[in-house]
Amino acid sequence: MANNDQTKPELRTRSSLKEIQGIPLLEPIVTNWDRVEKFKAFPEDLLIATYPKAGTTWTQEIVDLILNHGDADQARRAPTHVRMPFLEMTAPNPTLSGITQLEKMGPPRVIKTHLPIQLVPKTFWDAGCKIIYVARNAKDNVVSYFHFDRMNLVQPEPGPWPQYLHKFMKGQWWGSWYEHVKGYWRERENKPILYLFFEDMKKDPAKEIRRISEFLGQNTSDQLIDNIMQMTTFAAMRENPMANYSTIPETIFDRQASEFLRKGEVGDWKNHFSSQENKVFEEHYNTMMADVDIPFCFSV
Ligand code: A3P
Repeated sequence: MANNDQTKPELRTRSSLKEIQGIPLLEPIVTNWDRVEKFKAFPEDLLIATYPKAGTTWTQEIVDLILNHGDADQARRAPTHVRMPFLEMTAPNPTLSGITQLEKMGPPRVIKTHLPIQLVPKTFWDAGCKIIYVARNAKDNVVSYFHFDRMNLVQPEPGPWPQYLHKFMKGQWWGSWYEHVKGYWRERENKPILYLFFEDMKKDPAKEIRRISEFLGQNTSDQLIDNIMQMTTFAAMRENPMANYSTIPETIFDRQASEFLRKGEVGDWKNHFSSQENKVFEEHYNTMMADVDIPFCFSV
């Protein structure tokens, strides 16, 4: 899987990594880190925080529809990353640069981040912003991340699956999955954090949409919850050009390698993990997660 052909365009665009407080991030993010640190949040801003590939885009779409009272046209006003910018992301294209976008927007803003809790700029806590955190079981999360790194030509080269799995266990770009999910979990009762699970959203989307709506202080009728649920199914979002990242150029997202909305399932890890990999992974997982009791679910 590793690509050593220097003429391939992906090798010219894939970023290297640099660290902030021991967390490996894409180099352009680290180069522009002072903009993240100096960012000013409004109290009305909402932060949607996830480890990459945990269901960020799905949650963003649900939130935008709740805040727009189910108005589908309004939710199709622009692609996801323009409606709800990605805080720490920096790119030559200004529409892909989170802070450049956010500085042009007034409150209330819905902001995406993959930062672990210790790197979330203090301004969000000082302003008392609400945060929605979405966690996904580690096995499906790593599978989804692997396919994403194959298609996202800005991310470092994923290499072959067995090595990729190993990298994930050690902690890779955006840091350790284990520390990420634990960090927000531990703070969820001290801070205004709604902690959600991808698997619950799959099992009972209406219930989770209602929880999000209540957290946002919105009075959403059962009928509207149902409409939002229909508009945010995997199939509906996959067809929606404003929610499926099809506006991102092929030089960045190689859709031949994988779709952004790839499968959207719980348990796809069973198609990727060998039984030996599963055994080693579980031993490591049990050690890493021994100090918390986060109710992850690996199949539905
Ligand atoms: P898969 O790669 O397993 O398909 P993120 O938005 O955090 O990058 O997460 C992307 C993952 O969420 C992808 O997982 C994607 O298919 C899934 N996803 C996005 N929208 C979804 C939806 N409406 N229903 C189910 N899964 C969804």
